[in-house]
Amino acid sequence: MNPPPWYAFLEKDGKIHIVEMMPGVRKIKGLGVLDAFETFSKIEYGEEVLVGQKVLTRVPMRLPEMTKGMLRRAQTISAKDAGFITSRLGIGPNDRVLEAGIGSGGLSMYIARVLGNSGVHVTVEPRNEHAEVALENLRRAREAWTEFPTHHHIEGAIEDVVDDIRTCSEYFDGIILDLPEHPSAINAVASLLDIGGRLICYCPVTSQLESAWIACEQADLEIEWAGELIERQWGKASKGGVRPVNGPFGHTAFLLVAYRRN
Ligand SMILES: C[S@@+](CC[C@H](N)C(=O)[O-])C[C@H]1O[C@@H](n2cnc3c(N)ncnc32)[C@H](O)[C@@H]1O
Repeated sequence: MNPPPWYAFLEKDGKIHIVEMMPGVRKIKGLGVLDAFETFSKIEYGEEVLVGQKVLTRVPMRLPEMTKGMLRRAQTISAKDAGFITSRLGIGPNDRVLEAGIGSGGLSMYIARVLGNSGVHVTVEPRNEHAEVALENLRRAREAWTEFPTHHHIEGAIEDVVDDIRTCSEYFDGIILDLPEHPSAINAVASLLDIGGRLICYCPVTSQLESAWIACEQADLEIEWAGELIERQWGKASKGGVRPVNGPFGHTAFLLVAYRRN
């Protein structure tokens, strides 16, 4: 049996390297010049391998490894918000999801993971330099996981490609918008949301949340939830016990969940 085309390796400090198992000597970012197939193809899960000064452990390529080791360009949505988004959309097998913009494909990987083989995932992005990075991350995911949805990527601003979106699916069970401007996108695609479907807007600043809220109401969607998620990490204290770690509380975005009742 052929080895899987992608391997994930964990460094002692938690850094992840995602490596394509291609034969031939080439430069692998963070690991140097080597033949990946020759060096790694016989390494099993949990087994360690020394590359230069780095001790690497091979681990399965689950979502946390994929997102930690992903290629990045546009700012990505992280697990805190992505977990909320996929569960509040209520999406799973057989569902159809529309996502704009694809950015680096950070959120796209979470969506693909929950949809599995039977889902349909349509992504939209006007900037090719972003889409290239995202599509490479999704290629890795498709080749590394046993299930992956039918994926259509459409180039352009979402407001301008509604007819192309409709050729992929007439209606959607979930729509997620991570954009600088939400109202024009909501106006353009709210009618694509099926009855009982949800549209979520990811809004880094409050003015975006407010304008998205108004646009959803104007599009006859009900606001089901609005707010933000605050994550507080705990660690081991030096003198014993566990407690919240020192450091600032980060902000990611405000989230708006809108529902189509009829
Ligand atoms: C912050 S990034 C999205 C990041 C993505 N959610 C992730 O997790 O990797 C926002 C993206 O929206 C794209 N964008 C901006 N205006 C758009 C529009 N009208 N339609 C579709 N995408 C748009 C930008 O080019 C950018 O790539």
